[in-house]
Amino acid sequence: MYRFFVCALGIAGTVLGQSVDSYISSEGPIAKAGVLANIGPSGSKASGAAAGVVVASPSTSNPDYWYTWTRDSSLVFKSLIDQYTTGIDPTLRTLIDDFVSAEAHIQTVDNPSGGLTSGGLGEPKFNVDETAFTGAWGRPQRDGPALRATALITYGNYLYSSGNTTWVTDTLWPVIENDLGYVVSYWNQTTFDLWEEVSSSSFFTTAVQHRALREGAAFATTIGQTSSVSSYTTQANNLLCFLQSYWNPTGGYITANTGGGRSGKDANTVLASIHTYDPAAGCDAATFQPCSDKALSNLKVYVDSFRSVYSINSGIASNAAVATGRYPEDTYQGGNPWYLTTFAPAEQLYDALNVWAAQGSLNVTSISLPFFQQFSSSVTAGSYAASSTTYTTLTSAIKSFADGFVAINAQYTPSNGGLAEQYSRSNGSPLSAVDLTWSYASAVTAFEARNNTQFAGWGAAGLTVPSTCSTSGGGGGGGGGSTVAVTFNVDATTVYGENIYITGSVAALSSWSTGSALLLSSANYPTWSITVNLPANTAVEYKYIRKNNGAVTWESDPNNSITTPASGSTTENDTWR
Ligand code: NOJ
Ligand code: NOJ
Repeated sequence: MYRFFVCALGIAGTVLGQSVDSYISSEGPIAKAGVLANIGPSGSKASGAAAGVVVASPSTSNPDYWYTWTRDSSLVFKSLIDQYTTGIDPTLRTLIDDFVSAEAHIQTVDNPSGGLTSGGLGEPKFNVDETAFTGAWGRPQRDGPALRATALITYGNYLYSSGNTTWVTDTLWPVIENDLGYVVSYWNQTTFDLWEEVSSSSFFTTAVQHRALREGAAFATTIGQTSSVSSYTTQANNLLCFLQSYWNPTGGYITANTGGGRSGKDANTVLASIHTYDPAAGCDAATFQPCSDKALSNLKVYVDSFRSVYSINSGIASNAAVATGRYPEDTYQGGNPWYLTTFAPAEQLYDALNVWAAQGSLNVTSISLPFFQQFSSSVTAGSYAASSTTYTTLTSAIKSFADGFVAINAQYTPSNGGLAEQYSRSNGSPLSAVDLTWSYASAVTAFEARNNTQFAGWGAAGLTVPSTCSTSGGGGGGGGGSTVAVTFNVDATTVYGENIYITGSVAALSSWSTGSALLLSSANYPTWSITVNLPANTAVEYKYIRKNNGAVTWESDPNNSITTPASGSTTENDTWR
């Protein structure tokens, strides 16, 4: 229904702006209602779900999403809690209290990941009556407790400052404390990623865990529950340190997972940036804020990775918005664009525009230069005041670029406004789960960002990355010792379909496994590169391998060997043998 407007993009930016305005005015209320319809007990599409339980989608087959995921529920309720605590929707209080009760109960339900104090909080999903789901699944998923803590802390800060202190300390805090304790104990353990497929370390999970512990420390201090504050802060610092290791300086993007054997270009990273946005943190790159040079470079690489993989993107200018999905190699339900992943770049860019406007300038660095050059080929690194023509040129083009993602979703939104999970890569028709709660929530938050609606930050301003990372979690955490970032570059000529991986003698190099060897980036072909966090001051052996359609070719003997430095970082330059 919005096809006409999108086609007009190249003709006049204002036509695009108007179409986006009109889409938002019709879709905004539909999205809000779509969220509420999927929450028990009285949501119109959630009948049978317990009070406060968010159903992922009413779809009960192919795929069956008639479950409650901690991730989806927490992201959805974070948005509702933001609306309640800022006065946008004062009617949500009862529903939020239902959510608190539902999650407090779910925390106590024994499940295949464990019990309350033995890992069970990492269970990804439950039945809608709050009983355990016991079938096979990619578990645990360690982002859930962190996201739930973030939602509940937002609510807790509001209630505490409005005088409801007893309920916060006696009822809400124990639930939050369970989740923070889980993050402290398990952050350094292997997790399935948010897409429930890759078991390794995952940027989104690390980023939201960092946020939860950081704001958890401040919240606990505010309400006088100080016994674990120092462990929250210690592990938050370790998480912030570890977070840096996902950055791939050669490719200019954030590698989503340490395992998985893919490019690592993934909506995981864009979602992490928008869900750890703190307007007070400016364009800080340590926390990958939406307007940071690293997050902007990453956004370009992520978006560009979909230009040629979906035929609905063909013919679109190389600097205009396209439909995006979870990651370019995705095949789930056909491997299509998702509404929530296409809204995510829009939201990141709206957040960025809001920060630049607030600070009255924007900064172009050598890292973000390729991102900005999409909008003005002559721009150079430097700081541009809001009064400069460069600032005006860039920000107005970036606003249109951001609106373009909304316009693409608008183009593929059916006339009733329903948002499924995906839409066809070849013709744009809706696919997979209908009425996905998270799709609706992602529309709501993107539209709020476009409107510069201000929500509370979480203490991301002015953080300093520790100079060496400790990988020892608290309680049940594994590892121990510090790590250093080692960049491996290898010159290797490959044939089409062939990729270079690394494997070696330590767990961070997959312990000589070929199946989970780490894929190098070919961004600077014929040099292949990867940066890996390895144990400091340790003798490590490794080899590069080639994989082509499952066939593995090893480098010739002997093994390569290095001794890692005690701190800092180092680079190994090799040639394939
Ligand atoms: C179901 C999960 O929800 C989805 O994220 C995943 O891609 C598929 N299983 C395939 O593993
Ligand atoms: C599959 C997605 O990959 C996962 O992130 C989500 O939690 C479930 N579907 C439920 O929406």
